[in-house]
Amino acid sequence: MKISNDILYVGVNDHDIDLFEGHYIVPEGMAYNSYVIKDEKTAVMDSVDGNFTDAWIANVKEACGSPDYLVVQHMEPDHSGSVRGFMEAFPEAKIVSSAKAFTMMANFFEGEDYADRRVVVKEGDTLELGSHTLSFVAAPMVHWPEVIMTYDAKDKVLFSADAFGKFGGLDVCGETGADDDDWACEARRYYFGIVGKYGPQTQAVLKKAAGLDIQTICPLHGPVLMEDLGYYLGLYDTWSKYEPESKGVVIAYTSVYGNTKKAVELLAEKLEALGVPEVEVTDLARDDIAEAVEDAFRYDTVVFATTTFNNGIFPFMREFIESLTERNYQNRRVAFIENGSWAPQAAKVMKGMLEGCKNMTFCENGVKLVSALNNDSRAQVDALAEELAAAYK
Ligand code: FEO
Repeated sequence: MKISNDILYVGVNDHDIDLFEGHYIVPEGMAYNSYVIKDEKTAVMDSVDGNFTDAWIANVKEACGSPDYLVVQHMEPDHSGSVRGFMEAFPEAKIVSSAKAFTMMANFFEGEDYADRRVVVKEGDTLELGSHTLSFVAAPMVHWPEVIMTYDAKDKVLFSADAFGKFGGLDVCGETGADDDDWACEARRYYFGIVGKYGPQTQAVLKKAAGLDIQTICPLHGPVLMEDLGYYLGLYDTWSKYEPESKGVVIAYTSVYGNTKKAVELLAEKLEALGVPEVEVTDLARDDIAEAVEDAFRYDTVVFATTTFNNGIFPFMREFIESLTERNYQNRRVAFIENGSWAPQAAKVMKGMLEGCKNMTFCENGVKLVSALNNDSRAQVDALAEELAAAYK
């Protein structure tokens, strides 16, 4: 793929991976993006996962022969796994990276600190390639502390490291944003899963990006973004401010014998009948929790429904709430459905876990099941549905 006259795509797609970052299911695989900038001097932008070193080096050789620089923007092994292979394949080349990245390099690659082959850069430094001048933008914690992004003023390209990435191989989701019908879905799951905790740091980078004339964003995962950049930048702004993106109710539940599930289904049916714009129901024991986390950050309201278990709450619900709170969950309306056959206290435990979050609205109504739905709890479902739906009228 050609990004501009001088910039070529040399990344790879991974369809062998089971869990990305040891954590996330990626049914459409994963792309490890890498780019070559051809000029009087040639720079390669990042390497790829170590399982693809040979294929990537073949791509680099085909694109530019023998490059002068490898710019390492991020040291996580999905991008740095082929740095050592690159340095062996191109013995004249130098690595351009942040001081923190060189420290990490020595830790990842025992005995290799590349002391005589390094160019250390920081915020505001530049690298002249000829007609292209690369300027470096510090992007700490988006997604690791050593991260730099790179701006090419000639072609107005921002190489954005992990930011604006998404799950999925480019051979499945498309090479450019324009080819990708549903970029936001997997980009949102990726953002909240991987970068979500670092909203303020993402905001800081967006402010720096606002001062640049950007026509193309080249992320390290997912399609190259060349059109309608305001759409992608706008979503990142919303996500990193922890603002709801869509109106609607997520009902996230666990159910041991199906009784809590029946209450959840009844609530969902009533919310739909009352005209709530979107109702998403997720079974935390069986569905992808990263997808549930994504939905909880996408919508303005979440109903948490679970069983009292070991004097606390069911494990999948605990994991879900912790996945939200550790990512600075805030600015949402929440309600609780609890079940307990002799001493229900799940609602109290769930509320306690969320009370430290900023700017939360706890609904007045909730539902208490004592084993199974009855007339009392059906009336509580009605009242909760009315309260939730009133906000959308
Ligand atoms: Fe794609 Fe943080 O590595």
